[in-house]
Amino acid sequence: MGATPKKPVHVPFSRNYMPTWAYDHITYLNGGNDIQLKLDKYTGTGFQSKGNYLFGHFSMQIKMVPGDSAGTVTAFYLSSQNNEHDEIDFEFLGNRTGQPYILQTNVFTGGKGDREHRIFLWFDPTKAYHSYSILWNMHQIVFFVDDIPIRVFKNSKDLGVKFPFNQPMKIYSSLWNADDWATRGGLEKTDWSKAPFVAAYKSFHIDGCQASVNAKYCATQGKQWWDQKEYQDLDAAQYKRLKWVRKKYTIYNYCTDRVRFPKMAPECKRDRDA
Ligand SMILES: *[C@@H]1O[C@H](CO)[C@@H](O)[C@H](O)[C@H]1NC(C)=O
Repeated sequence: MGATPKKPVHVPFSRNYMPTWAYDHITYLNGGNDIQLKLDKYTGTGFQSKGNYLFGHFSMQIKMVPGDSAGTVTAFYLSSQNNEHDEIDFEFLGNRTGQPYILQTNVFTGGKGDREHRIFLWFDPTKAYHSYSILWNMHQIVFFVDDIPIRVFKNSKDLGVKFPFNQPMKIYSSLWNADDWATRGGLEKTDWSKAPFVAAYKSFHIDGCQASVNAKYCATQGKQWWDQKEYQDLDAAQYKRLKWVRKKYTIYNYCTDRVRFPKMAPECKRDRDA
């Protein structure tokens, strides 16, 4: 019984977030309800949540760097930032004017990543705000673009795969130069004559269980809306949409890369769309 996560509420940036680095490259608009991150040849910038969270639904509305964004990467991710860290990533790889962005997602559990998926989007992410969100509970991690699930990472503990459950994560976002790999594998370089590159954000609501850094569990775990039955799996309509995305927009999926992974990762058994 899948259900669409609740619509995000518009709350100002500073209620839940703070800059991480290059404070002067963040612009506050509309009374702090909207912000812009700026990348120039001196630096990119980023921000992070004030709190640490164990489970929840984390969303943000972003309008990607328009025009010639080749070489730039805009990221939105959760990370526990410790030794054997857990991480859930959205990375938007820019492109030359008129060429499509790539959305790369990845999941790290217990310090192990190498689980990239790459898709094209079905719209131009620079034209308008779209919401990007992560639903995380004991049963699954779902990546949504607007209301469409684009990736599901099921809890496959029974297959011997670690699943993030006891390391609180912060939410991060950043804009930086990655022209050594981002666009056409690093062939397309950032054109600094087009700087500054600007990504716009709004809607900074967080629905999560706030935990202390060392918390092994969350006191309200199991009781919040994102823990309930209808969020423990996708429903038929959601699987149908996931299947549509995978069929029409997939560029890369580590589960089908036999060159890099002659032996398929165990969780790939559950990397399916129906
Ligand atoms: C950029 O555009 C080229 C040409 O259409 C395409 O091959 C590539 O996948 C696009 N995206 C990135 C991020 O390289």
